[in-house]
Amino acid sequence: MAKRLTIPDITARKGGTPLAALTCYSAPMARLLDPHVDILLVGDSLGMVIYGMESTLGVSLDMMIRHGAAVASAAKQALVVVDMPFGSYQASVEEAFRACARVMAETGAQAVKLEGGRDMAETIRFLTRRGIPVMGHVGLMPQRVHALGGYRYQGRDDKESALIMEDAQAVAEAGTFSLVIEGVREDIARQVTAQIAIPTIGIGASPACDGQVLVIDDMLGITDRPPGFVKPYARLGEAITQAAQNYAGEVRSRAFPTLEYCYPLKKP
Ligand code: KIV
Repeated sequence: MAKRLTIPDITARKGGTPLAALTCYSAPMARLLDPHVDILLVGDSLGMVIYGMESTLGVSLDMMIRHGAAVASAAKQALVVVDMPFGSYQASVEEAFRACARVMAETGAQAVKLEGGRDMAETIRFLTRRGIPVMGHVGLMPQRVHALGGYRYQGRDDKESALIMEDAQAVAEAGTFSLVIEGVREDIARQVTAQIAIPTIGIGASPACDGQVLVIDDMLGITDRPPGFVKPYARLGEAITQAAQNYAGEVRSRAFPTLEYCYPLKKP
């Protein structure tokens, strides 16, 4: 059986074979994805993907711990990273440490991820110096959707671009082992990747990133209207609709179940 990827294995991939990451929220899906990807990210996107919320803001620490534990229990090879939800790490470094320590202890995941740039550098330093591996997340930060005025890509002018670069440098210097860059102009993600020493993982970013991540339901074709940067690798939404229609039709016409799908009467 292949060995589990470690944090040093991930950092060693800077500039090498790109890292393949996918979000994952359940044990059965983790079993399917684990042999094929390097990182399973238990993203707080589960608020929308699993619970039908409008944004990630309503996701709680307990929700992340439950889903994180399910994924970590099933993954044998990929590095499992759990997103810290909104409100669990911003108030103080001590509160951030307590929340991250709970995630690490109660899920069995190997790392946490949190959103933020220069404003989170002190927190990241506090966590990493105390043994908590942290993945950063800059650019479009969905937990700041209201402050940003919607899910618009970032780096539209020179000022915004310079701030993204400063954010990336600040969190890299603070000790993150890798950095998600979401929804930014392509050339900015390329520049950030060239200038920081840790692997960048793009989503709606650049082919130059050291890895890529997508939301699993988007790339499987289950999400209704996925963002434009998503390539559909399957059309499971159509397959599920077709299967449900066939099933309901056969139940109503009594074509299902035939005796083959029933327990036979046992002769004494
Ligand atoms: O929550 C999430 O799924 C994420 C990815 C989109 C990077 O943060």
